Amino acid sequence: MKTLDETYYVQALEAFIERCDQEQVTLAWIRAKMPSLLKAVRWPVSTAEVVSVVGVGSGKGIMDVDVLKLVQQECPENPLHCIGIEPNPDELARYKKTAAGEKDFALGSTTFEWHEKISEEFESLLPSRPDSRYHVIHMFQMLYHVRDMEETIQNYYNKLTEGGLMVITIASKDGNDLLKAFDDYESTIPNLHDLPAQNMKRYSDDVLPILRRMAILHHSETVSYQVDVSECFVDGSLAGKMLLDFICLTNATCVYQSLAESDRSALLNSMSKYCKAGIGEDDRGRRMLTLTFDCITFYKGKHAQSVCNGVA
Ligand SMILES: C[S@@+](CC[C@H](N)C(=O)[O-])C[C@H]1O[C@@H](n2cnc3c(N)ncnc32)[C@H](O)[C@@H]1O
Repeated sequence: MKTLDETYYVQALEAFIERCDQEQVTLAWIRAKMPSLLKAVRWPVSTAEVVSVVGVGSGKGIMDVDVLKLVQQECPENPLHCIGIEPNPDELARYKKTAAGEKDFALGSTTFEWHEKISEEFESLLPSRPDSRYHVIHMFQMLYHVRDMEETIQNYYNKLTEGGLMVITIASKDGNDLLKAFDDYESTIPNLHDLPAQNMKRYSDDVLPILRRMAILHHSETVSYQVDVSECFVDGSLAGKMLLDFICLTNATCVYQSLAESDRSALLNSMSKYCKAGIGEDDRGRRMLTLTFDCITFYKGKHAQSVCNGVA
């Protein structure tokens, strides 16, 4: 899939993260929901066996570190091995720094293996690790970037342990006001749907049919968060431009590299119709938009059926 220039992408991602509560909302979901999801994983019987966790597209690793702490609580006596896959060197460096600062991981029984790679490169290494199996594999907000979602999901699913857990978060179409704004705007663009398929934005709606084709029993939950888009309406604001570019990359139906000035005004017009005034202490009077993502979870193999039936 087309992406922005790598350095600019990270700056634009930062502009987005600073103005939205997606990180906090994701961490809140992890802390509220993952403990019970992890309870149902089929962990190794022996406490001497290594428990392995893989994060794909880890970014700066905040979700990875949180998940790992919960896994550690679940299997306090097992050694943990954590694999982080992240192509951006700056993001990976931040992940390493965060992990090094975590006193919970300094006990010597937690090891890390970092891969400065895109997922596809790591996936191509999997056949050379025939004995490796992973108990938890997560992909937080990253499936937009892989060449072929189905291949990637299949490759990792094959490497899950029997009874292992996979967690995917990806944008949802449900209750997504930004998507409605894009729908309005894009309805004014002629020939939009003649664009090549790889330029189409990905949503959870694209993941669920893949899981159905793979006959994977799964659970999906929609979570909403807010983004403060006020800066996008400020003429000449670099942060506003980066925010809008990131939003276009990750939320438009069609992926735009960057918007021409006339398109930018048309999109802003559509967005303003869906903005609500912020009500929180820090965002009173700001222009807020609601976005949503789905948290999709499933287990490998027969175990999935037992968990659904409550007998795991
Ligand atoms: C939206 S960020 C999510 C980061 C992190 N998972 C989180 O939730 O905070 C997407 C991440 O995927 C990484 N990425 C981009 N293309 C990738 C690919 N083909 N394989 C793996 N990661 C990729 C980006 O560098 C970025 O760090």
